[in-house]
Amino acid sequence: MRDAAPQTIYLADYTPFGFIIDSVSLHFDLDPRKTRVKSRIAFRPNPDATDNTFFLHGENLNLISAMIDGTPVTPKLTEAGLTCDVPDAPFVWEAEVEIDPTGNTALEGLYMSNGMYCTQCEAEGFRKITYYPDRPDVMAVFTVTINGPHPVLLSNGNPVSAAEHVAEWHDPWPKPSYLFALVAGDLVAHPGSFTTKSGRDVALNLYVRPGDEGKCAFGMQALKESMKWDEDVYGREYDLDLFNIVAVDDFNMGAMENKGLNVFNSSAVLASPETSTDMNFERIEAIIAHEYFHNWTGNRITCRDWFQLCLKEGLTVFRDSQFTSDIRSASVKRISDVIDLRARQFPEDQGPLAHPVRPESFQEINNFYTATIYEKGAEVIGMLKLLVGDDAYAKAATLYFDRHDGQACTIEDWLRVFEDTTGRDLTQFKRWYGQAGTPHLSVTEAWDHGKLTLHFKQHTPPSAATPDPQPQVLPIAVGLIDQDGDEVEETNILEMTQAEQSFVFDNLGTRPIVSILRGFSAPVVLTQDLSDADRAHLLAYDTDPFNRWEQGRILARSSLMAMILEGKKPNKDWLKGIRAVISDEHLDPAYRALMLGLPSQSDLARALAEDGHTPDPDIIYAAVEATRAAMAKSYANLLPTLYRRHTVSEDYEPDAIQSGKRALSNAALSLLTRIDDAAAAQKQYDAADNMTQQLSALANLIHAGKGSKAVQAFEAQWKDDRLVMDKWFGLQVMEADPEEAHEVVETLTKHADFNWKNPNRFRSVLGAFAAHHGGFHHASGAGYRLLADWLIKLDPLNPQTTARMCSAFQTWKRYDADRQALIKTELDRILAQPDLSRDTTEMLTRIRGA
Ligand code: TRP
Ligand code: ZN
Repeated sequence: MRDAAPQTIYLADYTPFGFIIDSVSLHFDLDPRKTRVKSRIAFRPNPDATDNTFFLHGENLNLISAMIDGTPVTPKLTEAGLTCDVPDAPFVWEAEVEIDPTGNTALEGLYMSNGMYCTQCEAEGFRKITYYPDRPDVMAVFTVTINGPHPVLLSNGNPVSAAEHVAEWHDPWPKPSYLFALVAGDLVAHPGSFTTKSGRDVALNLYVRPGDEGKCAFGMQALKESMKWDEDVYGREYDLDLFNIVAVDDFNMGAMENKGLNVFNSSAVLASPETSTDMNFERIEAIIAHEYFHNWTGNRITCRDWFQLCLKEGLTVFRDSQFTSDIRSASVKRISDVIDLRARQFPEDQGPLAHPVRPESFQEINNFYTATIYEKGAEVIGMLKLLVGDDAYAKAATLYFDRHDGQACTIEDWLRVFEDTTGRDLTQFKRWYGQAGTPHLSVTEAWDHGKLTLHFKQHTPPSAATPDPQPQVLPIAVGLIDQDGDEVEETNILEMTQAEQSFVFDNLGTRPIVSILRGFSAPVVLTQDLSDADRAHLLAYDTDPFNRWEQGRILARSSLMAMILEGKKPNKDWLKGIRAVISDEHLDPAYRALMLGLPSQSDLARALAEDGHTPDPDIIYAAVEATRAAMAKSYANLLPTLYRRHTVSEDYEPDAIQSGKRALSNAALSLLTRIDDAAAAQKQYDAADNMTQQLSALANLIHAGKGSKAVQAFEAQWKDDRLVMDKWFGLQVMEADPEEAHEVVETLTKHADFNWKNPNRFRSVLGAFAAHHGGFHHASGAGYRLLADWLIKLDPLNPQTTARMCSAFQTWKRYDADRQALIKTELDRILAQPDLSRDTTEMLTRIRGA
């Protein structure tokens, strides 16, 4: 099916829908090829609307019949939906359509995955199920009946009745169509229960395919903890008698918050110690929390239009980060979030895809489920909380829930509850939602007889989305550390609003060392003229755990930059500073593990480009490898103890304490492997009884060039487990030598189990390859060609997953002219494909530029 010519949608063009819906009933007769959907919708004119055109969205639908108030009508059909003459009074619309779930490879609308039916409606998938005003500001109460030969037939809300092969569901809470869900199949339930604080008993179920029952316990526990946390921290209770989660193997993203019926990518919910790593457990816990938290931030209060996406996503990411900080380690979570922000959001904000947290236009909304809207959106809420304080934040959030329950809202509504609570004027703060680009913040110091003046400048590079950025409100968290390593001034939040601004600390004895942007209090790029010695001092003594880590990271980066640009050796003082931190037994092992990390290769490429250099991926790779080798040599006498002391011998638990120890022992192992001929890694592989240990050992063996036997053994052991085999595919790509990576990928794509139509499997190979800096950017262009070939192949089947992966090319202007030419050839080759999807066309056109 050919997409209509690309059309741009603008925030400024918003108008309310011409009708209000009083009720919706849907009836499904399931069939793999010919599913029939009957709808009965009660409409009445919307008194607040000016445009009364009756337009219903609909795509790939075969209209069988339509009636208004029982009389057959002949609507006018278009590519995007239908229009029809309707009475200027309440009326009932009835339609029957036929759809083909099996032919639906885009995984949007109603589709089949491993013999089960499931739906994905966000953002605009409901229009592939029936004709409907498929926009989030149209909220309605749904009743659904499902007719099908399956033991399990699910939809939103509470069950009304269930007979053999028929189930009826009623969702009492008005909702937009994007939260509709239906699941049918031969599934087994892992049951649980939760009693809310006001005494409502809620039945919980995790539905999985037979065989996956043993991977449900952790997800169920995480769900109960999330329900409790939202009551304790935000005062939000669950509002139905039932909460269902379903695991699906074919899914474009992580998970979806459909009302009372969350649908999860099986990789985002199924877990067991034998098959999942500590990182998998933590991610699953966070995603379960995220989708559950959407029940209030997203479902009960939803978005007026898709430009407001960050209203639910930024806030819900912020809430799930708070949850993880509370139940694990706050400093480790903060550092991990900043690493992730720099890896995914900064490149987006500093390249051709830059867009504001609340965009003003789009062609394909699916392309805007981005790190900017999610992660920068969460950072913006974190700043707001810092500026108003914890108490005011809590009051404003409560006011938001009280005032807007049941409504479809905007960012203006969100900011207004803060203005009303605090009396602050948030006009300037709102620029965080309207301007693209990462602000650059620089600071200079002046010292004069006990008086320290900090002079800040902010500047946001212009972008296509924001050609003329204005100064933003920056909460800058600052503390002072003296020469003895004592804190002489606790954290202050400086509120910067001007392009240039000074702040004074008075009555100081000796000149202190300034610890700036503690906790990463604003998502900016900071330039601070601090000597290596002062940074080493902060690395040793800063009381702020984030900034302590950050100074180590900055020292690592400048050491790497000096190696890359001047051929220098790794910086000895940095090596020494890190040694002290990782030897400090008072510090959390998880935190010490983070201290052993290095900036990623693409982070280094970004830093080089920012300083006006052309990054060479081969030289970057060599510098990182040489640094790892130098660390291994320098810490040689420390590593065996560090490794042994933190190897966990108790029964496996995925909690913060055990996983922190394993993180440190495995960080030590990866260095140890460079000096012990991979002996410890081999031993760990042979003895491993959990996936964290097994996979880390395997990674080290492959990296050391000693992995071939273990790779085979791993495959033989896990060939029947889809999620573990995804790791097997991915790891071989990640650990490949840059020279060989594209050949490794080519070999893997010929493997019998490389089912490229499954998004998880596709991502495990091609996604890992796009993230392999040296391999993807191979000077021959073989990497670019290979990814382009696969994007061309996937696009006709699954535009959403294809378009997301196009972002691999977003940094192309950083590289040399030869690489740019090679990439441009591939961008043009993809763009020249006949019938390229709207999703991929929009992404590549924006990346390519004029
Ligand atoms: N709203 C979902 C979340 O963040 C994500 C989502 C949006 C999604 N569109 C999707 C998931 C399409 C799967 C497919 O929680
Ligand atoms: Zn979300």
